[in-house]
Amino acid sequence: MGVCVVGVVAIEMRAGARREVRWHGVCARYGLSPDLGFLGRPRRLPPRFGAWEVLGARLASIEDLPSYLARMPVLDPSSLRGEDLRRAYVILGFAVQRVRPEIPVALAEPWIGVCGALDLPTGAVTAAATDLWNWDPELKVSMTGTRTETEFHRIPTLILKRAARELPGLLRVAEDVGAGRSGAVAATLRSLARFFLDAKRIFDGVWKKVDPHTFYDVYRPLLTTAPVVLHTRGAQKVVKSQGPSAGQSALFVILDAVLADETPGPHADFQKEMLAYMPLPHRALATGLRADLRAVGGVKQFAESRPRVAKWRGAARAAYADFRRFHYAVATRYLIRTDTGTGGSDFRPMLRDAIAKTSSSSSS
Ligand code: HEM
Repeated sequence: MGVCVVGVVAIEMRAGARREVRWHGVCARYGLSPDLGFLGRPRRLPPRFGAWEVLGARLASIEDLPSYLARMPVLDPSSLRGEDLRRAYVILGFAVQRVRPEIPVALAEPWIGVCGALDLPTGAVTAAATDLWNWDPELKVSMTGTRTETEFHRIPTLILKRAARELPGLLRVAEDVGAGRSGAVAATLRSLARFFLDAKRIFDGVWKKVDPHTFYDVYRPLLTTAPVVLHTRGAQKVVKSQGPSAGQSALFVILDAVLADETPGPHADFQKEMLAYMPLPHRALATGLRADLRAVGGVKQFAESRPRVAKWRGAARAAYADFRRFHYAVATRYLIRTDTGTGGSDFRPMLRDAIAKTSSSSSS
């Protein structure tokens, strides 16, 4: 991907009055909001795309979606940029997910265009739509109109929002390691330990807010990964992608680059595959940061001769493993009647592998 996060952050994060302006520059480069991190700021589409806004607002209540879509005009998304492109991705993606497997022309043509512009797969919507760019209560698009669907996605959204505070430290950590700044690295790790505690607290709301039966019987079937048929004028194409998962967030790739052991296995394979499901700038950030950390020897090696860094690295890893153990308990509870996860994978061994990578027994 050829980004050098270390270099960028070294310049951008120099102390002083210009620091905030530069942080905004880093954010613009990597598709981040300065205050919301990986989350976008949804806004209504320009008036000529009004038909899509109506579709988004009514999606959950349209009974005969194929007939509705057959009457919808075929709009050209090529003029859309930035937040408008992301808003179009959310609306069209939710509609694709709900009407699948046959995707009619008025949906398929602009969907292919929007996914192409964002470099995202066309076989299913990704977590970019469900968790990153659909968080504003007023503009929220829903497939089912259920509280369970909203809360299921609100939890990762809130966790990602909380994570925004950690990003300046995370993006600087490779440079701090390279420059031997123990105090700064220790502070970043200590802050991460607190982040995982907060994330788990947010996640704990799942039991009350996400109804297991509605999730399993009403919403989960819509996250199917079965192939879709994209109908365009004069052609049709069968495509298959994984369904949306919070595991498609670049945040966890970054957290793993900083904290986890780099061991091959089902979790590493999953994360590698999911890179293609992340917005391009987030993907560039995650892979760039991982490469930068490797280049400076990594946090684990840095901690070896530095007790304070080692202490907070241990605390952050323990809190991460704890968060993932909680996630495992939730996932197995909500998907109790199936072996395949929201992304269609055999998820249990993969999630256990993820836990092991930050468990103290695997740390030397
Ligand atoms: C009811 C709530 C949830 C369920 C049922 C659930 C289920 C799953 C399943 C089955 C997987 C395996 C991959 C797949 O099949 O998609 C997975 C992966 C993952 N999920 Fe969740 N999940 C839930 C909430 C969350 C939340 C709130 C987060 C954090 C923001 C999260 C973060 C992850 C991550 C990072 C992975 C990849 C594995 C890893 O790196 O640990 N999930 N989830």
